[in-house]
Amino acid sequence: PDPTPHSPDLQNLKLVVSAGPTREYLDPVRFISNPSSGKMGYAVALEAQARGALVTLVSGPVNLPDPPGVAVIKVESAVQMHDAVLKAAADAQIVVMTAAVADYRAAEQKTEKEAKTAGEVSIQLVPNPDILAALGQQKSGRVLIGFAMETHAGVERAALKARRKNADFILLNYPTQQGTAFGGDDNQVTLVRPDGTSEAWPRLSKREVAARLLDEALKVRQSAR
Ligand code: CTP
Ligand code: CA
Repeated sequence: PDPTPHSPDLQNLKLVVSAGPTREYLDPVRFISNPSSGKMGYAVALEAQARGALVTLVSGPVNLPDPPGVAVIKVESAVQMHDAVLKAAADAQIVVMTAAVADYRAAEQKTEKEAKTAGEVSIQLVPNPDILAALGQQKSGRVLIGFAMETHAGVERAALKARRKNADFILLNYPTQQGTAFGGDDNQVTLVRPDGTSEAWPRLSKREVAARLLDEALKVRQSAR
């Protein structure tokens, strides 16, 4: 379903959106990941394309069809996503990070499958690059939007993230809401600005959240002029 009557208000704008989880392989058959479905990011890509934007979607492994009219770049790991997003963002005016980027990867990725042993094992993890923070360091007029899922102190934590990463705003959600966030078709988010002000949106379809997100991105662009 396509809720918006489209005005081409994003014409001549390039938008990059990341979606889905990343996979951090331990060996050729085992990885660390998370349950992100990619639906929120794909909804942003579809909505932005329908409103006239030139859209690049950088997607981790998901079970969704490629949105028509959108340049889709498929990646697996956070490092691959980092490189693809930074490259695509070079000439973009709006970047939306909906991806659930794994925070860590294995210090060492085995080239062969390791047999299990009877005892305990530990895996050394090293931090992944923060893609949104990297974009925020060389912001240069781009609108930067993040997502955050928090279990507690959501507005405070999201505002802190927006400040740290130099994002214009973050859409916050909680993992416990029925039918929303991970895997669902709806989302109930709160827009959080770096100054700590926030605005709770009603429960909406992910496509409607995408539409409002893009309205807000345009407002940020206009207020920066
Ligand atoms: N993000 C990113 N690169 C990372 C991790 C996160 O670009 N390596 C982006 C996400 O896509 C999201 C925003 O940063 O838009 C917030 O993600 P979140 O996981 O909530 O933030 P973290 O800084 O990883 O903090 P936490 O310790 O709470 O996971
Ligand atoms: Ca994280």
